[in-house]
Amino acid sequence: MADRIAPHARAEASRSFAGQRWSLADIPWCAIRHDAAAQSEAFFYLVASASLMESATDLYTQNLIEFFAGDDEVTSWLEDYWLPEELQHGKALRRYVETVWPQFDWEPAYLQFVEEFRPYCDMALEVARSLEMASRCVVETGTASYYTTLSRASPEPVLSLLARRIVEDEVRHYKHFYRFFRRYRETEAPSRAAVVPALWRRLKMSGGDDSFIVLKHVYRSRYPGSAFDAAVYRDVRRQCRNLVGDHFPHEMSVRMLLKPLALGPRVQRAALPVAIALARRLVP
Ligand SMILES: [Fe+2]
Ligand SMILES: [Fe+2]
Repeated sequence: MADRIAPHARAEASRSFAGQRWSLADIPWCAIRHDAAAQSEAFFYLVASASLMESATDLYTQNLIEFFAGDDEVTSWLEDYWLPEELQHGKALRRYVETVWPQFDWEPAYLQFVEEFRPYCDMALEVARSLEMASRCVVETGTASYYTTLSRASPEPVLSLLARRIVEDEVRHYKHFYRFFRRYRETEAPSRAAVVPALWRRLKMSGGDDSFIVLKHVYRSRYPGSAFDAAVYRDVRRQCRNLVGDHFPHEMSVRMLLKPLALGPRVQRAALPVAIALARRLVP
């Protein structure tokens, strides 16, 4: 199968960073089954949206690093591990998109997306570091769940493999943020009544403005001149839900979301089935 990656992207991919666990060279791009990948437009939307979103991680990283200024363990991990890994997700997904859907002009779509998305990146952080760490746990839960769904649902083996590599990173990110959350919980002692709204605020953001904006730019680049409004957005989301909804890891997501609440074993046992049932109804 022809390998369509541009030479400059190949050079990008060969750059390594500290502690790198995998690189683009580990993905068997030539084994992509184009017939399987191209059978559903919804897969295109899911992979292309993720490629734009991951590639834009550096837009809001500086905010986060400044918020944790003075905590060298956190800031150096964010700079040296977390950011390079998120950007690698973007590069790998971009390469997948450009290989399978070469007619999609990635770069202009990305630039237009960034122009609209940038103002949203001056995001309101939580009032306390412990709460921001809890909020970051929600983000990593969301990405771990997204790629788990993608890896399970994909009819194309290389996309499944790539999504699994990304899941491993996202789960590891979650563990780091959770560890940092526990450390700040020792000193800040946030009440459960403060942690719950922090988790909820972040949870409400998923599927909000970010997802509308990214999908808009993917759609417009795919169908130049076409309007993208709330009705089109709902329709594309419905296509994606129909395709992958059965594969969403409800139990894993709920367990990861509840963890920062530090519920006792009895409460956890009682809450878990209710929360999982609720998650099955709500997402996706
Ligand atoms: Fe990521
Ligand atoms: Fe992550």
